[in-house]
Amino acid sequence: MCGIIGVVGEGSHAKQLTDGLRRLEYRGYDSAGLVVTFSDGEMQRRRVANGKNSLSELELETSEISSESIVSGIGHTRWATHGRPSLPNAHPHLDCSERLAVIQNGIVENYAELKVELIEKGHIFSSETDTEVISHLLEDEMRTGVTLLEAVKRSALRMRGAMSFVALSLDAVGELVGFKRMAPMIIGTNGDQWFIASDIPAILDQATSFFHLEDDSVASITKSGVEVFAKDGSRSEMTEFVVDWTLDSAEKAGYEDFMSKEIFEQPGALRDTLAGRLRGSGEIEFDETSISNDDLARINKVFIVACGTSFHAGMVAKYAIEHWTKMPVELDISSEFRYRDPVVDERTLVVAVSQSGETLDTLAALHEAKNLGAQTIAVCNVVGSSMARLADSVLYTRAGPEVGVAATKTHTAQIGALLLLALKLSRIKGQLFPSEIDGLYQELIEIPSKIEEVLDKWDSIRSVAQTFSERERFYFIGRHVGFPVALEGALKLKEISYLPAEGYPAGELKHGPIAMLDKNAVVIAMASKTRLFEKIVSNIEEVRARDSAVIVIGNSGSESVIREGEYFIEVPQVHPLLAPLVDVVPLQIFAYHMARIHGEDVDRPRNLAKTVTVE
Ligand code: G6P
Repeated sequence: MCGIIGVVGEGSHAKQLTDGLRRLEYRGYDSAGLVVTFSDGEMQRRRVANGKNSLSELELETSEISSESIVSGIGHTRWATHGRPSLPNAHPHLDCSERLAVIQNGIVENYAELKVELIEKGHIFSSETDTEVISHLLEDEMRTGVTLLEAVKRSALRMRGAMSFVALSLDAVGELVGFKRMAPMIIGTNGDQWFIASDIPAILDQATSFFHLEDDSVASITKSGVEVFAKDGSRSEMTEFVVDWTLDSAEKAGYEDFMSKEIFEQPGALRDTLAGRLRGSGEIEFDETSISNDDLARINKVFIVACGTSFHAGMVAKYAIEHWTKMPVELDISSEFRYRDPVVDERTLVVAVSQSGETLDTLAALHEAKNLGAQTIAVCNVVGSSMARLADSVLYTRAGPEVGVAATKTHTAQIGALLLLALKLSRIKGQLFPSEIDGLYQELIEIPSKIEEVLDKWDSIRSVAQTFSERERFYFIGRHVGFPVALEGALKLKEISYLPAEGYPAGELKHGPIAMLDKNAVVIAMASKTRLFEKIVSNIEEVRARDSAVIVIGNSGSESVIREGEYFIEVPQVHPLLAPLVDVVPLQIFAYHMARIHGEDVDRPRNLAKTVTVE
């Protein structure tokens, strides 16, 4: 949800900003822009609002700027919230005197009232954005004679909402001032230069040390270092963290796009996520924890909160935790959890599942859970992310950076991590013997090689997608853990190919979606060999009777369920609760090919952003 980057120090140049924006593009691509300042006290701004071409055009325009004597710069890639994608709404936004520039990720919720006040004072606005309010607010403060740093401190207190922003001013050349509240923002340095950015990949090739800022921090960054201030104005510290991602892992490495690369990275991502977690017979370890096994033994309910693809991973976990621990598991979309009265107390374990660890709704749900006294655990991919730092315990997926907006490798890694959590809880609750846990762990670590078998079907799945590329509607059906897989298959297809797609519990088909079935529809049925196999076969019959096309995802020996003109995609048979790890992969590949066949950009689907830091 908007990407921001700033650089200050010896040898700073504009290309560092556009290179960083390239790696932040997954956060939005409605427009791109930057401002650089020069040692002689000048500044230059470039902005482009041309959808997915914005950044390439900005790179061209920026190449004309001489890098000599640049002392600082800020860059932004936008996902529009306030104000449509357009040039006037593209960041950075200036004040009236055009001596101050601001980039923001987030929302200034009370921007309308602030704007009225500023207009009354004579400020002239040139955009519809909430961000421009920050520029004028800072200008207003600075008119009273205070420094940029002081202006940011004062203005931050007046703004409501989750946001991070960076400002620079010609009255403070060589200084960037950043503010962070409930929206990601990290700091990095290579010794000569300092960076501020929304996410690690933006500065992965530039910085050698990385730091977190706490919420409500103001950071003044110059070539000599960073000074951080807490909300009350007192000096505070940044926390250094270790990044073990390689630059390679954030590049396409020969693949046509990030999504295909990340689909193929799944066996490795899952292997890394599972590796070394079983320490001693039946003992699964968290990465960080302040919850003791005694505390966990007192838990009588689990509550999983997540959004999007992470929610589907959480849904798989519900089936596994209930089966292996006999504890009730509730599952909620994060934005719903926050605004109802969830029944949560100190005997509830709330599990926040999030690739980024920054999704605002899930972060807020986690805050709410903590306020309600629950024990909390975050399952995140980004080390040191806000949720990882807020929760009592952390279980990291070790999938490496995921750039494609549609989550793939982090989804299977999440399921792997959540299954480990389920096994840990079952051990503590005494529901499974250590030897049973060891056996299931063994089955889990064999899954990556089963995923490799599915990846080998890349081309044949493309042919299936080609066959149905002109169909109008797609229904994914499954039972038990096949249901979340069906939901994820439909979400993937919607996200990147924009085709109408729905995921449904197969048994529910007859209560609504069946009315939509005709010769223009395709039904993709999850039909692994489980005790529910025959029931799903009956559901497939119902589909056939309505002339819809059928694609069956099933195990060896089940090929006979299909009829002439239908398609069978074979996936290896595994333990029923582990099957989503394997069964979701052909659906990812199907969605990928369908989008490519329709000429869509799989890495940058329209209207979506990878990390959603607004409500
Ligand atoms: C966005 C992304 C999805 C992702 C969801 C939750 O909608 O486009 O791919 O699943 O956010 O993100 P999280 O980082 O919390 O897993």
